[in-house]
Amino acid sequence: MVKKQSTAYVCTECGADSPRWAGQCTACGEWNVIKEIRLGSNKKNKVNLSGYAAGNSEIKLLSHVDLTQAERISTGYAEFDRVLGGGIVNGSVVLIGGAPGAGKSTLLLQTIASAAAKGLSVLYVSGEESLQQIAERAHRLELDSHSIKMLAETSVQKICDCLEIEKPALLIIDSIQVMYSSDSESAPGSVSQVREAASYLAQYAKRNNTSIFMVGHVTKDQSLAGPMTLSHIVDVQVILSSTDDSRYRVMRSDKNRFGSVGELGFFSMTANGLKEVKNPSAMFLSRSDKPSSGSVVTVLWEGTRPLLVEIQALVTESQYGNPRRLAVGLDQNRLAMLLAVLTRHAGIMTSNDEIYANVVGGIKVTETASDLAIIVGIVSSLKDKIIPVDVVFFGEIGLNGEVRPVANGFARLNEAAKHGFKRAIIPQGNAPKVSPKNIEINAVSTVLEALAVL
Ligand code: TYD
Ligand code: MG
Repeated sequence: MVKKQSTAYVCTECGADSPRWAGQCTACGEWNVIKEIRLGSNKKNKVNLSGYAAGNSEIKLLSHVDLTQAERISTGYAEFDRVLGGGIVNGSVVLIGGAPGAGKSTLLLQTIASAAAKGLSVLYVSGEESLQQIAERAHRLELDSHSIKMLAETSVQKICDCLEIEKPALLIIDSIQVMYSSDSESAPGSVSQVREAASYLAQYAKRNNTSIFMVGHVTKDQSLAGPMTLSHIVDVQVILSSTDDSRYRVMRSDKNRFGSVGELGFFSMTANGLKEVKNPSAMFLSRSDKPSSGSVVTVLWEGTRPLLVEIQALVTESQYGNPRRLAVGLDQNRLAMLLAVLTRHAGIMTSNDEIYANVVGGIKVTETASDLAIIVGIVSSLKDKIIPVDVVFFGEIGLNGEVRPVANGFARLNEAAKHGFKRAIIPQGNAPKVSPKNIEINAVSTVLEALAVL
């Protein structure tokens, strides 16, 4: 047992505990973020926890546990439902992160308006904006605001008192960072306050089968402020972020107890609020009519569906001794590895060139299927040879210069064919017995072969 103490040192960025004050947090590496906080007495904390303990301590056989609880409500957006794993699970706590202006409040207002229209009882708790501001937004978006209940409050105890009376099925907390729990003695806005407020609400949600959406702010590097603390408490964590084209928003799940992570949802911000994008490949492929060297299209697999994206490479002679290699949206190490493969197995030297590789649209590539497209893009820019706009590439590249198959090859080909691509250069291992209509397939097994096909 740790000796009882009345103060603790906590990182305000990630919430990690530290035995003493330090200049740098050992957990997240940030500087000047360790703060001393006063702890409440243990006794008091115990009373609070037992008040909202989830369920009673009866032992059950796993096979006898009710499965009926996992009923899902639609958000009204197919894209949002997809990211959540098929809709909102009853009694789940969802954290929505995003930079200011990402559209979190707009999205949630539209979501509860849709839920209210289906006859669900909903409550929107705003701690940031005034009720007038929200009413004006609802009016502008032409939402039916008759059955949307609003509350301007930042104390979780007072909110829970209202919840006991209202018993809403869906609750919005905008935002969790401004909420405070009167049980906690640390300053409002601090990590321990946010953590306590969030766990208080989460316990309420579990006991009463209320689904909660909490809005959270993200820090510069797109991680949620106090991420470690909140991730443990919530069931689902999604981030809403802008793409390079500021109209579009991408939603990604980082954690999901009820579905797969890494699932993407696409939206566009219009004058009438947030609309879902039904065909995201088209959105990322809005290329200029004039083809240029270094530009190649690949098919990524994002969550449970294929996505066509353009990859651009630029190779220029270096003016300095130490040429730069810069990857945007790609792994820097992966780029270095591909360049080494190019040198060793295709005899193409790039050691004196500056190399830039970029994924268009602000998407982050997390899989290896784009390897072949990156290599082709680099060679295309180096030799100043244009790749025809109707050719698509995918495949992983190994250190021996081999082109390796990737998962879901057929679905990727189908997506490319659907968007009018006439030719696909793909790994031998992905070559289908019957190819999709209107697309010619060139299966290759080495990098050299792939370059020769062109
Ligand atoms: P908001 O939902 O307030 O973002 P967040 O809660 O994530 O901070 O709104 C984000 C931006 O969207 C804001 O800059 C204005 C813009 N917007 C539109 O373009 N159209 C609309 O219909 C609405 C409501 C907002
Ligand atoms: Mg907001």
